[in-house]
Amino acid sequence: MNVKQLTVRNFRNAEENIITFDPGVNIICGENAAGKTNLLEAVFYFAAGKSFRNCKDRELIRFGCESANIEIVFSDENGVEKKMSAAIGKNFRRVIKIGEYRITKLSEYLGLFRAVIFTPDHLNLVKGAPENRRRFLDMAICQSFPKYAQSLSEYNKCVAQKNALLKRGAADDLLLEVYNERIASLSGSITVNRKKYTLRLEEEAAKFLDDMSGGREKLRCEYRAQCGEADTAEEIREKYRVILKDRLAAEKERAQALYGAHKDDFNVTLNRRSAKIYGSQGQQRSAVLALKLAEGELSARLTGEYPVFLLDDILSELDAGRKEYILSRLDGRQVIITGCESEIFGLEGKNRVFVKDGKTE
Ligand SMILES: Nc1ncnc2c1ncn2[C@@H]1O[C@H](COP(=O)(O)OP(=O)(O)OP(=O)(O)O)[C@@H](O)[C@H]1O
Ligand SMILES: [Mg+2]
Repeated sequence: MNVKQLTVRNFRNAEENIITFDPGVNIICGENAAGKTNLLEAVFYFAAGKSFRNCKDRELIRFGCESANIEIVFSDENGVEKKMSAAIGKNFRRVIKIGEYRITKLSEYLGLFRAVIFTPDHLNLVKGAPENRRRFLDMAICQSFPKYAQSLSEYNKCVAQKNALLKRGAADDLLLEVYNERIASLSGSITVNRKKYTLRLEEEAAKFLDDMSGGREKLRCEYRAQCGEADTAEEIREKYRVILKDRLAAEKERAQALYGAHKDDFNVTLNRRSAKIYGSQGQQRSAVLALKLAEGELSARLTGEYPVFLLDDILSELDAGRKEYILSRLDGRQVIITGCESEIFGLEGKNRVFVKDGKTE
């Protein structure tokens, strides 16, 4: 999969910009605050249907403007060209189009354009709170299995509605029961999908880490469902049915939905020890790098085509050995890297895009 062209209008700090990319390595360089990450954000928007920065759509609109427009032209493995566009407005619902066809559901376009993003924040995959790991899994699974996005979106809405109801106090028990039934059942399918994905991710990531560490580090990823051990969606649903019934009083007291797939996590271990607790900085960095490379590998296995790799500012974060490793592993794929001028040595001869004040030069 290759991005050929990106057009942004009134997106973040860019007024208008048209950028063309090479099929191989592309480097976006410029000073701090020039607008490099903003360009990756625009590309990734089409892979996830939202910003990777976990922000609101309206924050993407250039200060003082009413709407932002972004468009990518990309080609699949067979060279078939596709165009996707998004209009994001302050006063209207965003409009996403594939060519001239306006789509209405996220699941209609997720998976069409696929990308893996890797930023310094991804260290939180090992070091951070469970929500970082859930978001990582969810974004990755959605791109390979668009139907999962539908269940997840329904699930998140249901949890939000239940939270709103619990916060209002005097909760309507009948309505709570309806939400709980939906939460139990959707938790079943979401958890099973995440577990399956984690198993495959572990297999790929373990190979990368084995390679990177010369066989010294054994990586494992263990999905931890809040409901405990259960293998099938039905078993998980039944467990949550019981939990949600038994703990209703606690949820009412805390005025919060405390049980379901939105509380799951996965644990990364290195040589059987928690990478979060015992891993050194370097070991944690390598583990995250292995997980990100594994995400790309898995996307290729599941869809038959490598995604576009977007590497935001990671060259300054990785030492020479890891930098070389990642670039050698991504040989032959399309990669878009951002960095300051001084960090991109060793990448001479690649397509360079210089950005200043939101404009490419
Ligand atoms: N909605 C917006 N409208 C206008 N400018 C914005 C908006 N959102 C963010 N910006 C500005 O865009 C600028 C560039 O941001 P960006 O994150 O792309 O910088 P960068 O080139 O990646 O810098 P760094 O090297 O520090 O990571 C920032 O100064 C930011 O304040
Ligand atoms: Mg940046």
